[in-house]
Amino acid sequence: MNLTVVDSVAGMQALSEQLRLAGRSIGLVPTMGFFHEGHLELMRVARRHADRVVVSIFVNPTQFGAGEDLNAYPRDMEGDLAKADTVGVDHVFVPTAGDMYPEGFQTRVCVADLTRFLCGPSRPGHFDGVATVVAKLFHITRPHLAVFGQKDYQQLAVISRMARDLNMDIQIIGVPTVREPDGLAMSSRNSYLSPEEREAALCLSASLALAQDMVSAGEKEAAVVLKAVEQHIRREPLAHMDYARLCDPVTLEDLQSVKEESLLALAVIVGKARLIDNRVLVRKSPSSL
Ligand code: PAJ
Repeated sequence: MNLTVVDSVAGMQALSEQLRLAGRSIGLVPTMGFFHEGHLELMRVARRHADRVVVSIFVNPTQFGAGEDLNAYPRDMEGDLAKADTVGVDHVFVPTAGDMYPEGFQTRVCVADLTRFLCGPSRPGHFDGVATVVAKLFHITRPHLAVFGQKDYQQLAVISRMARDLNMDIQIIGVPTVREPDGLAMSSRNSYLSPEEREAALCLSASLALAQDMVSAGEKEAAVVLKAVEQHIRREPLAHMDYARLCDPVTLEDLQSVKEESLLALAVIVGKARLIDNRVLVRKSPSSL
């Protein structure tokens, strides 16, 4: 194995300082581990853009609400290190919760408006936890660039906003969602699904495709598109809708009518898993451009 593991905040800070003094650019991929192809794709993108790739693995307790899956969250450190090694990661940072949140910790980063929509209401405090831990990871690893997945569209929007608002001199790169061959967006939480639930979970990507077809065929009413999406998901007895929203891809505010580009975002509960997926619907189909 070529990569090195850094398990303390102080050790990571010393390493980042050393890399910067040596003139190396640093690319960071923050994760909670249990790697799949989506994570590995982020690492490959970081590899192409930076001299040194740092991946953090930290199941961040402050972004999980009461009753969420913090303790059940899947973990596989050995497997993760082996996978990260195959895509050329240089350093894996695996801090402990005690080192990240020592006694007396009390600072929160809150991105006010973007977190009022989509997953915000269903997961109170979640995005404050994400923004806070990512700000900490940025300060500890001091990356020149950081890579995030568009699968978590709102998370990417929140982090991009935070970086701009707080003058963090870090390029934020978004990577398109990596999917299974049948369309299911890859997620560590897919491991919670039984074979029947795995099948049912296809209603998310299928309803996104259905919505794009409607928009390509000229549908302009957001309500009509959303109704079709909701009906499609309701037909699946193992799936329970949390929300479906058609919104502005930048502000995340609800849209009444379909724009040139509109974000369709879904959260659906299947068994023990709360799954999210999204697609930017474009008014003209690529073939008619
Ligand atoms: P995690 O769920 O482990 O995801 C780590 C990164 O992988 C995120 O940027 C996420 O958007 C990306 N990702 C997940 N599934 C993907 C897929 N199918 N295609 C492309 N990218 C995908 O997101 C988190 O961890 C945490 O909230 C974190 C940012 C690390 C803060 O704790």
